[in-house]
Amino acid sequence: MKAVSLVSETPPPPVHVAIIMDGNGRWALSRGLPRVAGHRRGAESVKAVVRSAVANGVRYLTLYGFSSENWKRPPSEISDLMGLLRIYLRSEVAELHRQGVRLRIIGERHRLPRDIVALIENAERRTEANQRLTLIVALSYGGRAEIVAAARHLAALAENGGVEAEAIDESVFARHLFTAGIPDPDVVVRTSGEQRVSNFLLWQLAYAEFIFVDTLWPDFSEDDFEDALREYQRRERRYGATGG
Ligand code: IPE
Ligand code: IPE
Ligand code: MG
Repeated sequence: MKAVSLVSETPPPPVHVAIIMDGNGRWALSRGLPRVAGHRRGAESVKAVVRSAVANGVRYLTLYGFSSENWKRPPSEISDLMGLLRIYLRSEVAELHRQGVRLRIIGERHRLPRDIVALIENAERRTEANQRLTLIVALSYGGRAEIVAAARHLAALAENGGVEAEAIDESVFARHLFTAGIPDPDVVVRTSGEQRVSNFLLWQLAYAEFIFVDTLWPDFSEDDFEDALREYQRRERRYGATGG
């Protein structure tokens, strides 16, 4: 079944959209609610954005769910976030599968609770053959750590003759990142008014368009997602060449 296209086809909509889902805590605090209430509502925004990505023919959607640095948060918040992740993985994978979504998790998964790793592995296996949208969720993810891990892996290969140092180019390097095989994001959206990258996809965002919106993540809707797709379509990408 072909996805219904809601945004126009020209100029082409992005193939890969990445989102830094920020502002859950502020959303909750501004309502006098505990931060976890913001994270809970944020999970609803995830569902809405996945639906919209499928409907608009986006092929890859990467969501920053938890950074390597988020382990510095109070244990109670970390445990609330892991609890919500557990609920999401238990209750949403069937729906993702129904929508033809393949789930992939990137990040240092060994730092996650063991039962969550098992849920992730099951979900990845179950949705492996789905082709409509690949949903990549970054968990315990840090861009610098990812680059260092790739460098370490290549250095070990070089030591035992598995690769020639001279043969290491950008495409070889990219194949050693968590995102091997996934095209670079065309556009990254950050919600909540913050304008920084917070260690997200440092290698992969080299030529991405950046869109910053003031909306807090729990308020981010399908319409907001489509607005971002349209904003992207208005951008002129140059990749270092002259404009035209
Ligand atoms: C984003 O919302 C979710 C995570 C980082 C896990 P925040 O929790 O960062 O919310 P703010 O930035 O404090 O409002
Ligand atoms: C980035 O948001 C990480 C996620 C959205 C998961 P943060 O809220 O942790 O980033 P900083 O600390 O404001 O840069
Ligand atoms: Mg934040």
